[in-house]
Amino acid sequence: MIKMDMSWSDGYELGIELIDQQHRRLFTYLEEVEIAIKNRDAETIELVVRGLVEYAITHNSFEETLMEQAQYPGLKEHRLLHEKFKKRANTYIKRLEGNVDRFKLAEQVRVFLGLWLISHVKNDDQDYAPYVRKHLKHKHPLIATAFNKLFRRSA
Ligand SMILES: [Fe+2]
Repeated sequence: MIKMDMSWSDGYELGIELIDQQHRRLFTYLEEVEIAIKNRDAETIELVVRGLVEYAITHNSFEETLMEQAQYPGLKEHRLLHEKFKKRANTYIKRLEGNVDRFKLAEQVRVFLGLWLISHVKNDDQDYAPYVRKHLKHKHPLIATAFNKLFRRSA
């Protein structure tokens, strides 16, 4: 396994509670994948890899909804980054359905997703954060709460 620190850092926080919670969950998923690989846990591995990819895709859509509501001017570009991510992430899921070494694949997913997530959260997400923070402060706190509940249910 490639040695890489892919743990959550408080420096990744955007100051948007909803998003920060989801980002933390994604890092927990990364840890779960790492543990399943280490333990050669065949039962868990597929579950956590799928969970991680699905959660990441849903989370990105959620971000887009917030960016849209906040009228973030960089939405189009950000959406493209998410699209590219989704395409690549889905190729891993497709491969999971075939006859592959699940542990090797899980390691590839962990590295790809971990590196993408860290770079994305540190750079791209920081750009929209002020817009969404401002928007959530003034409008729609109830919508935000509803989304939050939805996510907690599916997490
Ligand atoms: Fe994003």
